[in-house]
Amino acid sequence: ARHPQRLTVVGLGYLGATHAICMAKLGHRVVGVDVDPDKVAALRSGVLPFHEPGLQEHLDEMLATGRIAFTADLARAADFADTHFVCVGTPQKDGTNAADLGFVEAAVDALASRIERRALIVGKSTVPVGTARRLAERVAAQSRPGADIEVAWNPEFLREGFAVEDTLCPDRLVFGVDSDWALDRLIDVFDPVLGAGTPVIVSDLATAELVKVAANAFLATKISFINAVAEVCEATGADVGQLADALGRDPRIGSRFLKPGLGFGGGCLPKDIRAFAHRAEELGVGRAVAFLHEMDEINQRRRERMVDVVREFAGGDLAGTRVAALGAAFKPDSDDVRDAPALEVARMLSMEGAEVRVYDPAAAENAHRTYPDLDYAASLDEATRGADVVALLTEWPEFVDADPAELARNVRQRRVVDGRRVLDAERYVNAGWEYRALGQAESLTRTDAVPAVPRW
Ligand code: UDX
Repeated sequence: ARHPQRLTVVGLGYLGATHAICMAKLGHRVVGVDVDPDKVAALRSGVLPFHEPGLQEHLDEMLATGRIAFTADLARAADFADTHFVCVGTPQKDGTNAADLGFVEAAVDALASRIERRALIVGKSTVPVGTARRLAERVAAQSRPGADIEVAWNPEFLREGFAVEDTLCPDRLVFGVDSDWALDRLIDVFDPVLGAGTPVIVSDLATAELVKVAANAFLATKISFINAVAEVCEATGADVGQLADALGRDPRIGSRFLKPGLGFGGGCLPKDIRAFAHRAEELGVGRAVAFLHEMDEINQRRRERMVDVVREFAGGDLAGTRVAALGAAFKPDSDDVRDAPALEVARMLSMEGAEVRVYDPAAAENAHRTYPDLDYAASLDEATRGADVVALLTEWPEFVDADPAELARNVRQRRVVDGRRVLDAERYVNAGWEYRALGQAESLTRTDAVPAVPRW
């Protein structure tokens, strides 16, 4: 076989579309499959259904080379290749902490009922440990005559905003396999990536599944740890920013993912730690990862804390207070609002009677779909006009770079709460603002500050 190969990628969401395009970029011929005909039509005509830096150029280029095609017809796709990647979502199941495996099972069943030769199904979705083994049995039970289908697991660690880089130059590859044959196939697929020196860990199926879940649990724990310390700092007057800086310089700790603030959100970390705890409970080892519930709670408490600080700033009552909510996305350079701390805080403020105006450079449309009743502004200028409190919720460069003197002319009262600790406190204070960062006990003001603009 060797390079290049024919591959299919089932599920064209964030992970699948990125994987399909990047595999074509590596030289393979790729067919991307999705049950949603609109998504297929969009990708065919070169439209990405989400925002991801750099990916559009690759899609255009791959469509032009003809190395990538998209279809809703799984039968054709099953016939096209011997290696099939499954990249469908595993959302949190309604009303529980468990992962919903419905899409994974449907994708695997659809492949297994159509494949008529020796083939490899490679799962990339984040799943509870034990799923791959169960899927392998499920496939064996429904294989057609002449088919010989193996299941392997190759977890994906990509971050939104860095999806292309993380796929083409990953920190490591993990191949969970049952046989040398499956391993050889994966080595052939990732040949150029491995050739660039990427370390590879070859393991059994369960280990490969668990690596992904454990990695996300560790990252979530690191963020919640520093946010727990931030709570203590707020109670004592210590500065969690300086503290995190000092901690992070110990190479055993490291400074990344140690940024205190509003906490984590997005389509992965929150649901993955819940599903991990849930799976461990099923396995009878719930005690081992019970701390993950605590990490989840610490994370949620940051959102409440943000609301508390804004309320304090507003004199104890949010009713009628105009709040400029800067950001809705769960992180900058993303239009994703799934479990976004920013959007949640905006909603909570609004529930308490604040007149919230939300502005986000990219996520407004998705935010509007999630909470249509919130008030959305079309620009930073519009969001801050007449505001009593400015709340920085997502650290978009546009907000970080904004000129506090210019903003000051726009607002009714110069009060800013920095939920991500990214604003230049000194510049704000010098421009007459009362500045408060999450994780600090006291707000900063210029002692000789000009009197705040009176309320009208
Ligand atoms: C994450 C993992 O990083 C990735 O490896 C995995 O495959 C999917 O989940 P992603 O959801 O794209 O990726 O977001 P990430 O950049 O990791 O940020 C997650 C959240 O943590 C964001 O809400 C971010 O604001 C927050 N965060 C991150 C902090 O609050 N502090 C930090 O120090 C780092």
